[in-house]
Parts: sequence; C-alpha cells; structure tokens
Amino acid sequence: MKEAKATIDFPTETIKEGKVKVLVPELKAFVKQPSDYAPSKAPVFYNPVMEFNRDLAVIALQAYQRIRAYQISICEPLTGCGIRGIRYAVEVDGVKEVWMSDINERAFKLAGYNVQTNGLGERITLKHSDANLLLAQHSAPRKRFDVIDVDPFGSPVAFMDSAVRALRNEGLLALTATDLAPLCGVHPKACVRKYGGRPLRTEYCHELAVRLLAGCLASTAAKHDIGTRVIFSHSANHYVRVYATIAYGAKKADESIKNMGYVLHCFNCFHRETAAQPLAHTGKCEECGSKLSVAGPLWLGKIADRKFCELMAEEAKRRKLRLGDRIGKTLVTVGNEAEAPVTYYVVDKICDALNLPVPPVQKVAWALVEEGFLALPTHFSTKGIKTDSPAVEVKAVTRRLTQAHNGKS
Ligand SMILES: C[S@@+](CC[C@H](N)C(=O)[O-])C[C@H]1O[C@@H](n2cnc3c(N)ncnc32)[C@H](O)[C@@H]1O
Ligand SMILES: [Zn+2]
Repeated sequence: MKEAKATIDFPTETIKEGKVKVLVPELKAFVKQPSDYAPSKAPVFYNPVMEFNRDLAVIALQAYQRIRAYQISICEPLTGCGIRGIRYAVEVDGVKEVWMSDINERAFKLAGYNVQTNGLGERITLKHSDANLLLAQHSAPRKRFDVIDVDPFGSPVAFMDSAVRALRNEGLLALTATDLAPLCGVHPKACVRKYGGRPLRTEYCHELAVRLLAGCLASTAAKHDIGTRVIFSHSANHYVRVYATIAYGAKKADESIKNMGYVLHCFNCFHRETAAQPLAHTGKCEECGSKLSVAGPLWLGKIADRKFCELMAEEAKRRKLRLGDRIGKTLVTVGNEAEAPVTYYVVDKICDALNLPVPPVQKVAWALVEEGFLALPTHFSTKGIKTDSPAVEVKAVTRRLTQAHNGKS
C-alpha cells in the first residue's frame, strides 16, 4: 500500500462519500486564483459537487440490478480517481465485477490505490486505457457489460458508439454531458455538429439538452439495429444525465426512432409545440402568427419511467445518504413529470415579459388545475410548470393572479 501511495506525486486528502473512503486530489492546493475551477486544475479529476450525480447513479444501478435479478457487470471507462466505480462495487448489491479505466496515468495510479485500500482488487479490474479501446475490447457477444457509465469531461458523444456496442441486450447505459453551452444553445453549431440536433436558448433549454442527448443516443444505437428507452434522466448544476436501456433488433430501433422529432417555439408569445417533421408545418405560431424557431431533431419520447423512479426512491430510502432529502425530492418530481407534456413554462420569464410581479409558482399551478389543465412542478426549474395548457392561458392565469394580489381584480 505504501509503495502504491509513493507513486502519487501531488497533494491529496482522504474523503468519505456514500460508504467508501477514497484518496482524492486536495483541491485547494490547485486553486491559484479565485476564478480557477479546482476539479480541472488538479492533475486528477475529482469533483465533490458530483456526489449527487454519483448517489443517484448508485441508486439507479441498484434499481436496475433488482429488475434484472442476477449478478451484473459494470464498466466505468472514464474513472478519474475511481470513486464512482468503487462505490458501485461497494454499495450496489448483486455486482459481479466492475471494470474501470482512465487514460491519465496519474488517475490510473490514484484509482489503483483506492481500489487496493478498499479491498476490491478481486472484483475491480482497472486499466490504464483509452475508454474507446476498452469498450471495443468488450464489444463481442460474451464480453459485453450489463451497465456502462460514461462520465467524461464535456460531451459523452465520442464514447457513445463504442458504449452501445459493448452493452448486452437489455443493458443500461448512463451518460453525463457537462457541455451545456452547446446543448443549451449558447453554441448551436457545436450542438448540431456533436449531437446532430439544433438547440434553442429557451427557458426550458435544460429539458431540450436532455432530449438532444437522448436523441443522439437513439440515432447512434439505431445504426447498430439497437433500440433505446430512457428510464431516468435529470439535470443539475452544470450537467444533464440520461439513463437508457437498450434492446437489440431492427424493429426495436425503428420503434425508438419514431420518438424523434422537433420542438417549435415562439419567442414572441411563449407558444410551443412538437412536430414529427417541421417541414410539414406552416412555420407560423398558431397563437400570434410570429415565425417559430425549431429545436431538433431530438427525443420527444419519455425521459423517465415512473415505475423506475419509484424503485429508485425505495432504494434511496434504504440508504443513509448525506444528500438523501434532495435525492428523495428529485425522484418524486422526476417520477411525476414522467408522463407530462414536453417543455415547461417558467413563471418568472412570463412575468418578466408581461411586466408583472411574480406570484408563487404553486398558485399559478393551482389556478391552471382549476381551469381543468394538468399542472405539475418540474425538477428542471423551481419556477417551472409542466402543463398541457396553451401559452395564452398560462399568461392569462398569471395576470389574473397578480392583479388579484394587487387588489385590481
Ligand atoms: C469527469 S472525469 C471522471 C470523473 C469520474 N467519473 C467521477 O465520477 O469522479 C473524466 C475522466 O476521463 C479521463 N479521460 C479523458 N479522456 C479519456 C479517454 N479517451 N479514455 C479514458 N479516460 C479518459 C480523464 O483523465 C478524467 O479522469
Ligand atoms: Zn407566438
């Protein structure tokens, strides 16, 4: 152990996350000025903010393993200090083996040390390898994994093809994307280039980001005659995350491609709608006649499965997680919005445009329900409402509420 530690040539500290203790870069040692983003300044990547992401991943993999009901194999090909893969080996029941790799030699050494100190040498195989190479070596039928977790810097697109090929039929693929500037429409060209779909800088751009990522996965898998089904997804901090199961077969691929389409948005009046083909559309907003902007092609299908969220919530309750409350709330909200319409309205944005004071979002939702519409909170935004109401009605309800509040009704 001492020898392994001696090869780590930068400041480190031991942290506890979930049920594991691991050695990580001592982030404050790498911050030279306040604007420095510590996780990427350290010689090995480690981001404490991603604890929430990793907690949810542990829970999702456990829920998935319970469904499969056999010993699963997991691959985390971009492992950094190894914390994620080590947590899978320690905290998920029914895990046969975990394969991890990193191209960075110092990450490989640090992850190796952490594997050893956690006594996991038998169940974890760690490689100093390129992720695509490791995945390609596991693309033959009996070598494939049950679960692959692609958690890179920026975009997971470069690893998508080989990840899909290295998954067993019915396997689970988890993808993190931190490149929100392209996905949320700040750099639309980069999004088209990487994800094959146009983003839009709307108030619901984080949902579009999830749908662009899920759409890119569906198109990538379809090339291999593989269908995809998104069972869980979420957006938090600086990233979006998608969990999808795959199913072999050209028919499955055709079925999943049917979920691809476009979101048409009116920047003048908040109207939005979906379309399988934008060319079949007039391109004009049906509420105000303005020109519509187009996002996509992207995934219009479900971005979570309510039952899977419930299973995850049960798993979360069984564990003592530091972020347990936040996790519980996220799972309830994502589960509830699983069947809700595509996109959401943000009350603040509407009030901004109409020059109104901002009423509590819950009151707007209740008023919409009283009008006979569906209205649900969304985990994407604390000020967001998922509803089947047209934009004109959301605005009317908001206006009425604020006028009543000011005694003007
Ligand atoms: C965001 S970090 C991983 C964080 C880790 N999954 C966690 O939960 O803490 C991305 C890692 O991918 C590694 N990496 C980048 N390109 C790679 C490649 N082509 N093959 C393998 N590892 C790579 C980097 O060295 C880095 O450690
Ligand atoms: Zn309009």
